[in-house]
Amino acid sequence: MLDVATQPSPVTLDRDAPILEIRRLRTEVPTSHDPIVLLDDVSLQVHAGRMLAVVGESGSGKSMTFLSALGIAPPPCRVAAGSVLFEGKDLTRFSPEELRRLRGAGISMVFQDPLTALNPVFTIGQQMVEVIRAHRAIGRRAAWAHATDMLARVQIPDPPGRMHAYPHQLSGGMRQRVLIAMAIALDPRVLIADEPTTALDVTVQAQILELLDGLRRETGMGLVLITHDLGLVARYADQVAVMYGGRVVEAAAAGPLFATPRHPYTRALFRSIPRLDAALEEDLPTIPGHPPNIAELPPGCAFAPRCWLRGARADCETERPPLVAVGEAGHRSACLHWPDMAHAA
Ligand SMILES: Nc1ncnc2c1ncn2[C@@H]1O[C@H](COP(=O)(O)OP(=O)(O)OP(=O)(O)O)[C@@H](O)[C@H]1O
Ligand code: SF4
Ligand SMILES: [Mg+2]
Repeated sequence: MLDVATQPSPVTLDRDAPILEIRRLRTEVPTSHDPIVLLDDVSLQVHAGRMLAVVGESGSGKSMTFLSALGIAPPPCRVAAGSVLFEGKDLTRFSPEELRRLRGAGISMVFQDPLTALNPVFTIGQQMVEVIRAHRAIGRRAAWAHATDMLARVQIPDPPGRMHAYPHQLSGGMRQRVLIAMAIALDPRVLIADEPTTALDVTVQAQILELLDGLRRETGMGLVLITHDLGLVARYADQVAVMYGGRVVEAAAAGPLFATPRHPYTRALFRSIPRLDAALEEDLPTIPGHPPNIAELPPGCAFAPRCWLRGARADCETERPPLVAVGEAGHRSACLHWPDMAHAA
């Protein structure tokens, strides 16, 4: 059986080849009639040593994309089409056992809910040793030493002491560091961090992002940051994918995406970033309207009911816009009328 966790990958000469590539992924929930389509035609690329930020409102499919890619979409959700290439191998063809070995070693994910990710009745050390030994044939003592090193690497003070702590004895920021330590303990080539800072206060958020970014630079791993926080995206991301209604609606390098967004939803998202100089009593700006119910997407563009650019254009309500190249290298948008954005307010 192919063991992606321990087999060295063939050396790739193409430095720009993605290390993880999701191609045209479709995830559905079967029903007695037509399936509910949670993700449709989602394509993303993660490159070694770079950070891909995946942004979009709640329910847009950010977490589901990576759960599906790793073969852990919660039943009854199932991948219905597409491929997921990791170092040239298609994960959608992997057995459950091959996928289990891949997770943690080749690709690690820090899950969205840090409280449920740690078991309250075991110490940090016990849990880390278990994870390490599930993937590596090393003794308990060596695994303990490695886990202690990992706590030091994520800048937890007094690592030997913290190995004996229970999760509730740590602050939220420290628990998040422990989860990151677990995730990097097996030297993954790709780390997916799902909202790693949402529950934390602003200072700790910045520290966790600095930590992740530093690890990315040191190890050369590809980093995926799933986030609502566009401030973090602007500061750290190399590439950005914007999701809406279970699809990618815009993707580009971070610079061009911020300078010249090519989808009305992306521009609306940027305008909803609170300004640092805004008066405290001012309401946070939000995008008018509600994110779509994925089970009842309109036939045309899913953003049409909220779109400031649409005006009287009839095709927006009848035609599902494909994600197409929009000029600059790698910049893609799923808006039928993106060229008109330059002239619109
Ligand atoms: N277990 C499940 N069964 C059926 N549908 C689900 C399940 N989990 C998520 N979904 C649906 O899949 C869609 C995408 O959800 P997902 O969790 O990926 O959103 P998200 O972008 O990560 O949102 P958030 O920012 O709130 O985490 C949503 O419509 C959600 O209702
Ligand atoms: S296709 Fe039409 S509704 Fe959709 S984002 Fe573009 S202008 Fe707006
Ligand atoms: Mg999520």
